[in-house]
Amino acid sequence: MSIATFKSAHRLITGAQSSQQTATELAKLGVSNPFIVTDKGVRQSGTLDLITAQFKHNVTIYDEVPAEPEVSVVEHCAEAFNQGKHDGVLAVGGGSAMDIAKVIAVFAGQNKPLLEFFGENNAPTRKLPLITLPTTAGTGSEVTNIAILADTENQIKKGIVSDQLLPDVAIVSPEMTLSCPRSVTAASGVDALVHAIEAYLSNFASPVTDALAIKAMSMIRVALPKVVANPHHLQAREEMATGSLLAGLAFGNAGVGAVHALAYPLGGRYHMAHGVSNALMLPYVMEWNKLACAQRFVDIASALGLYIEAKTENQIASEVVSYLHQLCSDVGIPQGLRSFDIPRSAIPELAAEAIKVERLLRNNPRVLSQSDIEKIYQAAY
Ligand SMILES: NC(=O)c1ccc[n+]([C@@H]2O[C@H](COP(=O)([O-])OP(=O)(O)OC[C@H]3O[C@@H](n4cnc5c(N)ncnc54)[C@H](O)[C@@H]3O)[C@@H](O)[C@H]2O)c1
Ligand SMILES: [Fe+2]
Repeated sequence: MSIATFKSAHRLITGAQSSQQTATELAKLGVSNPFIVTDKGVRQSGTLDLITAQFKHNVTIYDEVPAEPEVSVVEHCAEAFNQGKHDGVLAVGGGSAMDIAKVIAVFAGQNKPLLEFFGENNAPTRKLPLITLPTTAGTGSEVTNIAILADTENQIKKGIVSDQLLPDVAIVSPEMTLSCPRSVTAASGVDALVHAIEAYLSNFASPVTDALAIKAMSMIRVALPKVVANPHHLQAREEMATGSLLAGLAFGNAGVGAVHALAYPLGGRYHMAHGVSNALMLPYVMEWNKLACAQRFVDIASALGLYIEAKTENQIASEVVSYLHQLCSDVGIPQGLRSFDIPRSAIPELAAEAIKVERLLRNNPRVLSQSDIEKIYQAAY
């Protein structure tokens, strides 16, 4: 067994109504004037009120984070931050708001230009306390050391990876996700499943991340169809929120692989939602991966509740791929790159972008060349 370390938010608080501890948790961190980072959808749904009602004084709310935010959003948000004397950052939102809040907590009040933060371990020491509350289930961003931003000029998605982004506290409270729209519920739910599957298949998986990834898969496969069918099903929302957290803990340490690497250029060029781009690539990348690790697919099949008796490893791996196709279709995610008006002629450029995502491709169990990637995009067309 090779050496592995495990990192997370410093403290996790989970379970229904745990969001009611937010003000107390901020106070424990010595925060008296928090800066809340959220978005208009979360605010207008009334979900943000569950948090703001806990404060006896006015709190500053920045609600201008768009979905899949670009680099300039950080600068705009930092200007708003600097207009008050804030002593902590609270993220209330999906991956988009949480990622912006995580970057603000290291960026605000220091002089290093934002562009120098990108890549691995380039962020300065975080001085501001940081709490994350996810409203989707989800990206797992509440516990990861990653923030993803769109670079519109170069039409790519770029990551800031640094342990300085790990929050002090993550509060994962299912009622925060009850208002999540159906399409976002489906796409972010598949994203969580992809996190668990890619973490399990990662070259950097460990027994710790394996346990989290398998449990996440078994929770998400039961709960995801339920929350899409009935968005008000609180118990299923709780299973999704917790499953997404476990998947975040798994991939935050083992990494994700080629599904995410091939999804990035779709998000960067065609502004596709992160969960949707992952769902589009998932079955096709798994079809490619199964040759490298059929035994791991047997474990995945068990976690997904597939019948595996008296079947060969290869048969089981193929059934996992079919299951993933069916699940993405059942939860209403459009199938095929052609459904998104992507011209077939764009595939070589997409592959040229994807092969550059070395940070993720090195985690993938099967090696990919640029022409392999082109073939996968062709299959997914
Ligand atoms: N840092 C990480 O570890 C990590 C991991 C995966 C993805 N991401 C990033 O996260 C982003 C995607 O995040 P996401 O999928 O959570 O979606 P999102 O944060 O972009 O939200 C999508 C939409 O759903 C709405 N919404 C979210 N929760 C809601 C709620 N409870 N009620 C009403 N409306 C709600 C928002 O207003 C928004 O319009 C992408 O930028 C992606 O790159 C980051
Ligand atoms: Fe993801």
